[in-house]
Amino acid sequence: MFDHTLDRRTKPEVHPFFDPATNTISYVVKDPGSEACAIVDSVMDIDYAAGRISYDHADEIIGFVRDNGLKVEWLIETHVHADHLSAAPYIQQKLGGKLGIGRNITVVQDTFGKVFNEGTEFQRDGSQFDRLFDDGDTYLVGGMKCLALHTPGHTPACMTHVMGDAAFVGDTLFMPDGGSARADFPGGDAGTLYDSIQKVLSLPEETRLFMCHDYGPNGRDIQWETTVAEEKAQNIHVGGGKTKEEFVKFRTERDAQLDMPRLIIPSLQVNMRAGELPPPDDTGKRFLKVPLNTL
Ligand SMILES: [Fe+2]
Repeated sequence: MFDHTLDRRTKPEVHPFFDPATNTISYVVKDPGSEACAIVDSVMDIDYAAGRISYDHADEIIGFVRDNGLKVEWLIETHVHADHLSAAPYIQQKLGGKLGIGRNITVVQDTFGKVFNEGTEFQRDGSQFDRLFDDGDTYLVGGMKCLALHTPGHTPACMTHVMGDAAFVGDTLFMPDGGSARADFPGGDAGTLYDSIQKVLSLPEETRLFMCHDYGPNGRDIQWETTVAEEKAQNIHVGGGKTKEEFVKFRTERDAQLDMPRLIIPSLQVNMRAGELPPPDDTGKRFLKVPLNTL
């Protein structure tokens, strides 16, 4: 199932950047053998009530990369996020690197192109990105070989990226006491998510797993790193040998009670465009839409 030519003895330096506004963790992942790095799941700041965007979080990452003399080779989006806006194009403009996401971005673009009634100028072929990853695709960060695994269920385009002994799971898993992400967005599916989680948990037990989100359940401090072994044993939704049937029943009932994420409307419109803002209208201003009674 996996590319066993990956060198799991390679241990990348993983630098987390927590965004308290959206509970997202972005990562700078450095190849231990060179100055090359990848940036995973960056965040653009938004004051939605004011319709104002800014880049403090991205500037912190840019400062870190510059201060340490790193070279950005990849900007990875684990999926089209519904709870924060990507800063990938902003960082790419300043630091370079190629922007990559899962091949099924086209499915997400088709779905939300319709939801937001985007015109024909909105391409639904993923061409806003530099690379569309298929399941099992490999790429290099310096000398470190990386592997993209298709892990759908939360969304159709979700990928887990394995870099040396570390894996960036996006929203496929949360920390053991957080369980799993919802599977009720358009194109999501709880059974598919269960299968994808099993795929992640079939990585070597000692694999370091890095989360995209943490909400500090039960008042604990924010955490983002665990292992395959810990998730297998302790994950409250899938650990300890929970069956697919048990998971699907639980996940479906839980999802039916959840509100939409606060930033889903701006997030999808920006992230389906690879983090670019919608084009300006004839006044030169940019607008986000709010589709009523649709989501
Ligand atoms: Fe997500």
